[in-house]
Amino acid sequence: MFPDIRLRRLRKGKIKNLVRETVLTVDDLVQPIFVNETIDSPVEFSSMPGVFGFPLSEVAKEAKEIAELGIPAVILFGVPGHKDAEGSSSYGERDVIQEAVRRIKAEVGDDLVVITDICMCEYTDHGHCGIVDFKKEEVLNDPTLEILGKIAVSHAKAGADMVAPSGMMDGMVVAIRRALDEHGFENIPIMSYAAKFHSAFYGPFREAAESGYSFGDRSSYQMDPANSDEALREVTLDVAEGADILMVKPALPYLDIVYRVKTEFGMPTAAYNVSGEYSMLKAAAANGWLDEKKVVYEALLSIKRAGADIIITYSAKDIARMLKSAP
Ligand code: PBG
Repeated sequence: MFPDIRLRRLRKGKIKNLVRETVLTVDDLVQPIFVNETIDSPVEFSSMPGVFGFPLSEVAKEAKEIAELGIPAVILFGVPGHKDAEGSSSYGERDVIQEAVRRIKAEVGDDLVVITDICMCEYTDHGHCGIVDFKKEEVLNDPTLEILGKIAVSHAKAGADMVAPSGMMDGMVVAIRRALDEHGFENIPIMSYAAKFHSAFYGPFREAAESGYSFGDRSSYQMDPANSDEALREVTLDVAEGADILMVKPALPYLDIVYRVKTEFGMPTAAYNVSGEYSMLKAAAANGWLDEKKVVYEALLSIKRAGADIIITYSAKDIARMLKSAP
């Protein structure tokens, strides 16, 4: 003990580099891309400064820029031209994501892993993540599974490298696994939004993806923010159903869950640094209250330190540029 042990001895100069426990690299990052069929030039979201929706005509260019920054993967979200109660424009061969995947793959090939988000909320006019019984105002789990399978197969046919179901339907991973396997896509991995909480931090995303809902909320299928053991049960089920990568979402207010999931399962673990987490730092930085680069870096580092192997973040491009220019 003191004075023999002084931890500050290792906190100077390059010694610090030698003993550093966690390193954030560009290989940890996934950049989300919003593709919107209803626009013809990029539109910046007012609640997410620096994040844009892209028309199909610009999506390949954006993907190329991301690949050139060394970011290994993107995750795609689509805004369709047509929405209806069944989300029928989510699985057609020529629908927005299928088209976007083909264009991106034609441009970047294997330089970028193209992950597609699998959910119905951007495609339904009521904005819920599945088929709805309007009388009961209830999202119907099992009828939704079949559609999720169809969406996943259509994305894989278009060339997606990985699919990421985000709707928190029970049984969604196994439904998608079976559908993919039946169509010869047994080598397409599933990154499951395994522990997805009913969070107010998704607010800005709903502007970006035009996926606000017409009644109720998502608390009947997304998790209660108060629960941690339940998150492990959710994850256990997804592991049993064949998930390849487990995701926790949101990230920063749920680092305890990231830590538990990584520690208990020892599986590839992703954390989604969601829209609200991005916007709050942006807003504080815009006011001059925080140093944007430093806080974003520190936030992402904390997600990695908690156990995430993969960080999905709207700041991926910014951080990739920063890591490139660092001495
Ligand atoms: C769709 C989906 C959502 C997000 C990712 N996929 C929204 C939601 O569940 O309401 C949120 C992402 C973010 O806030 O950045 N189910």
